[in-house]
Amino acid sequence: GLTRGKYLGCFRDESSKRLLNGAYYNSSIANSHKHCLHKCLQAGFSYAGVQFGEECFCGNEEPLAGSRLPESSCDHKCPANKSQPCGSYFAINILETGVAKFVPQTANDANSISNPPVRIVFLLTLNGRDIRQVYRLIKTLFHRDHFFFIHVDARQDYLFRELRPLELKLSNVRLSLRRHSTIWGGASLLTMLLECMSELIQSSWDWDFVINLSESDFPIKTNQELVAFLSSNRNRNFVKSHGRDVHHFIHKQGLDKTFVECDEHMWRIGNKMLPTGIVIDGGSDWIALSRPFINYVVTAQNDELLDGLRTVFKYTLLPAESFFHTVLRNSIFCDSYIDNNLHVTNWKRHLGCKCQYKHVVDWCGCSPNVFTMEDWSRIQSTSNKSLFFARKFDPTVSQQVINQVQEWLYGYYSDDYKSERKYWHNVYHHLDRSPVVDDAIYVVSSSLSRQTLSSSENFDLKCLNLGFRKLLQVHSFHENDVQKGILVHFDSASSKNVSVQFEAWFEIKHSFTLYDSNLVASRFVNLLVNTNFDPKEKMSRNYVGAIGPLSEPVLIFEVTAGSPVSNITVLWLDPMQTLVDVGDISLSENSGVDHVKSTLRTPLCPGEWEVYLIFNNDVLARIMFVVTPLVNEHSNTMFQEANQIKTSTDWNLLLPIVKLNKEHYDPESQRTKILQHLSYDGPRKIEWIDDLTSKSYQILDFCIVDIQQAEHSASCYRQDYKRCNSTVWSSFSPDPKIHITTVNKLTGRLN
Ligand code: UDX
Repeated sequence: GLTRGKYLGCFRDESSKRLLNGAYYNSSIANSHKHCLHKCLQAGFSYAGVQFGEECFCGNEEPLAGSRLPESSCDHKCPANKSQPCGSYFAINILETGVAKFVPQTANDANSISNPPVRIVFLLTLNGRDIRQVYRLIKTLFHRDHFFFIHVDARQDYLFRELRPLELKLSNVRLSLRRHSTIWGGASLLTMLLECMSELIQSSWDWDFVINLSESDFPIKTNQELVAFLSSNRNRNFVKSHGRDVHHFIHKQGLDKTFVECDEHMWRIGNKMLPTGIVIDGGSDWIALSRPFINYVVTAQNDELLDGLRTVFKYTLLPAESFFHTVLRNSIFCDSYIDNNLHVTNWKRHLGCKCQYKHVVDWCGCSPNVFTMEDWSRIQSTSNKSLFFARKFDPTVSQQVINQVQEWLYGYYSDDYKSERKYWHNVYHHLDRSPVVDDAIYVVSSSLSRQTLSSSENFDLKCLNLGFRKLLQVHSFHENDVQKGILVHFDSASSKNVSVQFEAWFEIKHSFTLYDSNLVASRFVNLLVNTNFDPKEKMSRNYVGAIGPLSEPVLIFEVTAGSPVSNITVLWLDPMQTLVDVGDISLSENSGVDHVKSTLRTPLCPGEWEVYLIFNNDVLARIMFVVTPLVNEHSNTMFQEANQIKTSTDWNLLLPIVKLNKEHYDPESQRTKILQHLSYDGPRKIEWIDDLTSKSYQILDFCIVDIQQAEHSASCYRQDYKRCNSTVWSSFSPDPKIHITTVNKLTGRLN
């Protein structure tokens, strides 16, 4: 029953003895609002209200919403002939009900006002290594009238380096040089956003809106539609509110806890009292803010509200999800608040709320899921809504859905190109200093490079006698949303002054054997051991599958639907056939992918490991995986020192394995063999590594990236060697969907 903008509610909270001001006021009465509060407070009243932006009323009784204050308590005479009764105002506990009763503005539809079109800054806040998807995002959004300001997490050398050349190519693309390690949910995310906005206000770019996007966002409407919509809503501010009880939101979000960001971690150090007298709001850190509001946020001096909120949110988890909302709601910009962040988000909380950021924040945070083709109808249903972006997308999970969105928006690509369904995800680049390279990836990929050079039946450049020189890059190669293997790009050289760069394609061999065709065994579709299991997307993010002595392996299993099964025992045997861990799994009646962690002590013994699934004293399955030794000098001794060689004491557990294959189970000789291997160094160790990796990877093809050869070696060179730039699986082959070329003079978009 309250009309927004007409009333101001304020009252004194008897429990805290503090004066709270209300949530409902209109920008034109912001000053009288403040006046009113002070006046009532000074006069010792508990309640105050302003009507029609003119009259301030104080009182000592808590009135009900819309009730009439006794005239005696008004310090002004009641205005005559107003449609509302004198002193009619509300007083509420803002924290409890303020947001629920707040009625945000609704956006104008795109046709109402359209001139002149707005200009947008896409503020890309990036993390990870998905450079191709970032290129694709830029290419899809690009128009010469708009701008791209890019912040790359300070730890991500690869993305930053690969994006740098765009600044030279395109005048409306710039990278922020003030980089932060913007950890998930960290205070640094807000610091970074405010710094970027400040740079944008100071820049010569003429823009109207800033929209922040991440590497996993993608447009679901054309640029034209976005521009038309925002042009009709100039100066409005788009944020998404949580839409529930404020107390619940504050609690769920940990807003009432103090966090300190230090050493790339949000440490929870205690509770905090949120400021009273203001409306706390929040819900999402994906926003579209107008220039006047951003200007206020980054330039206002000595502003109590801003200064206070900046301090509060410096010690708050996920600050970017609430800071802008709260400033908007409590400042003169409250009228410009639109409860829509222009995004559709693929929340699947049963999957996305698995406390997966515990290593980064002292809190259980949630993340939305990646869209797949199964979610297509959800995307499609946004067509008549004011939603312009969707998140999340990840081409290593589903590129097909990204292709489909793009075709939906812009039609089929005119040229039928071969890379449409292919994706190359960079895993390693030799120029990277940060993040620190995973030693196991380096060791395995270098070994595969050596194997390329020595695989004689695949390779007849042998006459050059090339030796492996340097690992340059590693990509995970995907086609039709299936990982097809890994690509190692490396440099080799011979004594004859020849140097050749190759890219070789390896298949990853995951080997498991099912021993029993009973109902339980037949439920297993796939079994493998890997690291970096992503519980949200139910996949391993260790694309190379390299496991080293310091890795934390998990058993990943895919099952069909069937009767529930419990008590399947998982036995982990190290290369000496010592039983080093015992776990168990249960299967529900549903199909799907899941994992079981091991509690193995690192360093792990290098060599061939086995995992057995035992049910009713029989072996159901055996899974083999390799732990690669590190080239690093003392990695072997490290293992030997950490693990006093032990034999399993629980023979009963091992009986099904012995029963299955007595000859295979021979811990004594395995131990002798492994101890010998562990003593290797230099070339013998390299040989051992190469032997181990050959059990898990198999070469499929190779091509030449570049060849520098001396005249006298020309006789070894054949013209028909496959060149990578014309080899469809190679990361060097043309990929028009990500290729950023020149600006089309006619359309303003990229060619
Ligand atoms: C979700 C919600 O969408 C978001 O509103 C909420 O604030 C956090 O949880 P989520 O998918 O979990 O997002 O986060 P993600 O997109 O991975 O990261 C958020 C932003 O932080 C991105 O811009 C990302 O690039 C950046 N980020 C994340 C980093 O810069 N470094 C990191 O280490 C992690």
